[in-house]
Amino acid sequence: MKIAVVGTGFVGLPHAAVLAEQGHEVWACDIDPARIEAYRSGEAARIERYVNEPGLAASVAENLGRHLFFSSRMEEAAAGAEVCFMCINTPPNRDGSTDLSFYRAAAEQLAGILAARTDGRRVVVVNKSTVPIGTARLLEGILRAAGAPNVGVASNPEFLAQGNAIDGSRRPDRVVVGADGEADFELLRRVYPQFQNHVRIRYLETTPETAEAIKYVGNTLLLTYISFWNGVGARIAESLPGVRMEDLKLGVTADSRISTWGSYVSNGAGGSCFGKDIQSLIYQLGQAGQATHLLQAVFDINEYQKSYLIDRAVHEAGFGFNQTTVALLGLAFKKRTNDMRDSAALKAVENLLGRGVKAIRAYDPLAMDEARSRWFNPEQNHLFERISYHDSAEEAMRGADAIYISTDWEEFRGLTPLILSHARPPCLIIDGRRMVADVESLAAAGFGYLPVGGPYLPPGTAA
Ligand code: UDX
Repeated sequence: MKIAVVGTGFVGLPHAAVLAEQGHEVWACDIDPARIEAYRSGEAARIERYVNEPGLAASVAENLGRHLFFSSRMEEAAAGAEVCFMCINTPPNRDGSTDLSFYRAAAEQLAGILAARTDGRRVVVVNKSTVPIGTARLLEGILRAAGAPNVGVASNPEFLAQGNAIDGSRRPDRVVVGADGEADFELLRRVYPQFQNHVRIRYLETTPETAEAIKYVGNTLLLTYISFWNGVGARIAESLPGVRMEDLKLGVTADSRISTWGSYVSNGAGGSCFGKDIQSLIYQLGQAGQATHLLQAVFDINEYQKSYLIDRAVHEAGFGFNQTTVALLGLAFKKRTNDMRDSAALKAVENLLGRGVKAIRAYDPLAMDEARSRWFNPEQNHLFERISYHDSAEEAMRGADAIYISTDWEEFRGLTPLILSHARPPCLIIDGRRMVADVESLAAAGFGYLPVGGPYLPPGTAA
């Protein structure tokens, strides 16, 4: 079946590639011709400059010109398509609401194209990227206003986590399709024949509004787990003597009703989705006249978590950051990505510079170019000149007065010997991911240790 994918970012490109793997004829379009050129080249390095996901470039190269086609002209992509997926970016506005201007522009363009079709065949336009509850209805209005004949609307949200887009699309937990009638449900079943009557994959058909709400409630609940563990579990283990974080987690999550996901306490969850989606849901419920205390608390706890270890260092360890050198280990919002959107490291840098640090020595296995060029560009803020970039964790920690571990990169698990050989006591280790093992040796060697989810160990203490 011919399928059009409108928008080829993190949502659209993996989706197009995996649909093509199923043998559909997939036409993906984008308003950015440079992207389209890169994808058409089939070269991994060029594709990965735009979307870097394991297995994605190989999948694109494999299907290019056979099942997968790219165009910068929406007319070409949409011609003869039975299903058009909207994979357009929906960034947040300042007030938390969703900026639908890019989405609207693309929807209006598509509506004009569909209105000009003369083949009489039914086409369904499907929202794939996260859009506020009610956007399928908005789309319906846009299509109707343009006079597009025989068109349906649907919602089929994307649930992918970064770093797992291709595998996640090939083997999702669930496929949620919200549509208005049998004709459109049937078109979507033909898009996803491999997920019908599957033993493990839940294929759910519902209303467009319910499908849109499932995406928001799912993401908000995931952040609620994280904020619960950071705001309650970690605080207990930090402040009530004798409580061990890992055992607390194991004991509680052994209950089959309780998720283990989210129980990994941290210096706050980042990424492009959680913060944006919960703020949008708060806005949507607020507009509906509903109270949003719980959601606001979940959001606030997560935001506070991103700078709270620095506050703890001041209050519990008496560490004055003014004129000190801090090694910042990890810039990305999670391991295995160079993405820094909403990353805890952004807040840490802001906080550290605000406290007058002399230097920040940064290291991240993947995100240093991203940091230099986009987030900490000294042309935007001259204080960013205080950040230097280093090729390894040991390089970064040389001469540091404090070491702040911000991302859960696997390589940070083995830091103890490196700290012992490359940092000098009484350097304070601030562990935002509970990565450091053998903290007794560190304390015995004269280092201070301050972890999320545990009490402060001053230099010289036994754990
Ligand atoms: C998330 C959702 O998982 C996905 O379903 C949705 O479609 C998009 O948002 P992603 O942003 O890629 O995906 O990241 P995820 O792996 O969920 O992690 C989000 C953040 O939470 C990261 O900063 C991560 O390090 C942190 N995290 C995760 C914790 O701090 N503790 C945990 O237990 C789990």
